[in-house]
Amino acid sequence: MKRQTFLKNLGLSSLAVLSSESLLSSCMENRNMNVMPQTVKDGEFVNALKIPEIFTPGSTLSAQITQDILVKASSISVYGYHSGLLGPTFKVKNGQNVIIPFQNSLKEASNVHWHGLVIPSNMDGHPDHVIESNKNFIFQFTIDQQAGINWYHPHLHMHTGIQVNKGLAGMFIVESDEENALKLPSDGYDVPLVIQDKRFNADGTINYNPSQMDIMTGYFGDNVLVNGTSKPYLEVSTRFYRFRVLNGSSARIYNLALSNGADFYIIGSDSGMLAQPEKVKNTLLGPGERLDFLIDFSRIKIGEKVHLNSEKFTNMGGSQGGQSFKIISFNVTIQATDSFKMPASLIPFSSIQGSSKTRTFTLSMRMVNMNRGMNTINGKVFKADRIDETVNFGATEIWEFDNTAGIEPHPMHVHGVTFQVLSRTGGRNKIEPHEKTWKDTVLVGPNERIKVVMNFSQKGKFLVHCHNLEHEDDGMMLNFEVV
Ligand code: C2O
Ligand code: CU
Ligand code: CU
Repeated sequence: MKRQTFLKNLGLSSLAVLSSESLLSSCMENRNMNVMPQTVKDGEFVNALKIPEIFTPGSTLSAQITQDILVKASSISVYGYHSGLLGPTFKVKNGQNVIIPFQNSLKEASNVHWHGLVIPSNMDGHPDHVIESNKNFIFQFTIDQQAGINWYHPHLHMHTGIQVNKGLAGMFIVESDEENALKLPSDGYDVPLVIQDKRFNADGTINYNPSQMDIMTGYFGDNVLVNGTSKPYLEVSTRFYRFRVLNGSSARIYNLALSNGADFYIIGSDSGMLAQPEKVKNTLLGPGERLDFLIDFSRIKIGEKVHLNSEKFTNMGGSQGGQSFKIISFNVTIQATDSFKMPASLIPFSSIQGSSKTRTFTLSMRMVNMNRGMNTINGKVFKADRIDETVNFGATEIWEFDNTAGIEPHPMHVHGVTFQVLSRTGGRNKIEPHEKTWKDTVLVGPNERIKVVMNFSQKGKFLVHCHNLEHEDDGMMLNFEVV
């Protein structure tokens, strides 16, 4: 390294220690003086929840400009993978060979990443794999993992945030015989909920235009949509329902809870189901994470409404958790008899044993100048052709995400694997109920150090990154190669 560059780096990193916290807090104060753009607007829950269609094998998945009605009565142009915002829900069985012809009908490059699927690197949608406008690509892979809620979205470097915000995302559900044997609520009683916050322009079009400050904290919307429905309601019967939640937001963490204070039952997370249901009153869900849970509406009177809310929370960075707001209204309208019994156990879960190596990923902000900080991993920002870590094929390793110096939460995600959370020290100091199964994204709060363990069963180039999409696009992402 040249002496000059070295001195410059040194100078900037000591500046970082001094000023990243004060810079962010002065930013936050500025925000508070204006109307905070991240404050979610209230309103009547008057729009019937849209349910994405189920993808039919053999049909083409096409990224396109399409029309939808979001926050205004008139339709606007959005991005989607079928007609309207978002994309169809895939439902496939473990062991199935999946062929998905993809067509990029946008006027710009895109690609598809299958978030949560453990598939070969040339099918994973690494930013190296650019699918130009009007080009196509046939994705083909075999599902070899447990029942779980995965998802798909574009993954071009520096363009993931904008393409996801404009509407490109969808759910990819893996089912299995073991899961079917549990006889969980199905069909109309098994409901996907893709939760995303967005900002809109006065004419009702989607506004995605992050400022320097937004890039440091993440982009927050003042409208929370579910499956692309603003202020949604769902008419429900007096029985058990299964909900599959994807936090498809750029940066917003939700603290999910029911408005009547009732318990709900977590049965699964990102890429697996729990060993037994966990009864909770609330749970935090970071961007990119998923949650599989059951709600019992059987004792609710006809005519009543129960809301799924996000309640206030603390210690997740200055911009998160200051407000409680409603996400969706469940309107109890239909009397039903329900024979469903909560199973005492779900899918057996065995811990990964042994590991050959521990790698630490330090999350911190590096000041570029007095007004601009970049979120980094091990002090680095993403470089497409640089391999940051090399892992042996077949190895079992512990990866530690260390946010003890951080002031922002980072939902850390690893491609090409599913992992188990071993420990969280500092911050919340515990493993959350929904983290007791296979995951691929874990919320690393400020002051937290999290260890995950995983086995590398796919060769090739993959990513580890923060799933706050503005952090990711700003370079909070590294390559690793399995050889
Ligand atoms: Cu959902 Cu690399 O991302
Ligand atoms: Cu992913
Ligand atoms: Cu981050």
